[in-house]
Amino acid sequence: MPQQPVRIAPSILSADFAALGAEVAAVTAAGADWIHVDVMDNHFVPNLTIGPMVVKALRKHSPLPFDVHLMISPVDPLVPAFAEAGADIISFHPEAGPHVHRTIQLIRGLGKRPGLVLNPATPLALVEPVLGDIDLVLVMSVNPGFGGQAFIETQLAKIRALRAAIDALGKPIDLEVDGGVNAETARRCIAAGADALVAGTAVFAGGPDRYADNIRTLRA
Ligand code: DX5
Ligand code: ZN
Repeated sequence: MPQQPVRIAPSILSADFAALGAEVAAVTAAGADWIHVDVMDNHFVPNLTIGPMVVKALRKHSPLPFDVHLMISPVDPLVPAFAEAGADIISFHPEAGPHVHRTIQLIRGLGKRPGLVLNPATPLALVEPVLGDIDLVLVMSVNPGFGGQAFIETQLAKIRALRAAIDALGKPIDLEVDGGVNAETARRCIAAGADALVAGTAVFAGGPDRYADNIRTLRA
């Protein structure tokens, strides 16, 4: 399906963890489209963050879709808990496998939208056999694990190639980019074909009074 108007998904990794409920409510009020939740296990990536109990607790602070990005291995044992907690989109990395198609079916079977995440060095070819089975592709424009990293330029070519593949398939698959997204890189991601942008640093900079302006700037 053709590129849709861009959706902004603030990554709460950059929020105040001592006030997560209020932060989620604040970006919701500020015009966010999705809430991006970065789940890290200190095994697949070198950081440890949020589990299903926190997702469940946050659920009552926003009616927006929760875009849950799993950076965990193995994936399958925790999928039901995140589905139950209130995730809407559940994305995972094919390297965290080993059975990518089975994990997609597991997520779909729980009534959630499956997404596949491509690391900077992961080729587009890895998603091609299952592109028709997923609802979202997430292109990592940094190495997963931390917010505040610099955008990796080479990923723009992958975004362009995915845009062409999705258009050729003609299915409503979201093309999301995650990492180092700011006003300037956002423009280039959208030009390359992205229609959903994750942003942590760029949304949460300056505190709650700035969130609406920050989100507007990314969309423009
Ligand atoms: C990185 C996470 C990103 C990160 C983005 O592993 O997947 O969602 O929080 O943060 P910024 O926007 O600061 O690059
Ligand atoms: Zn993420």
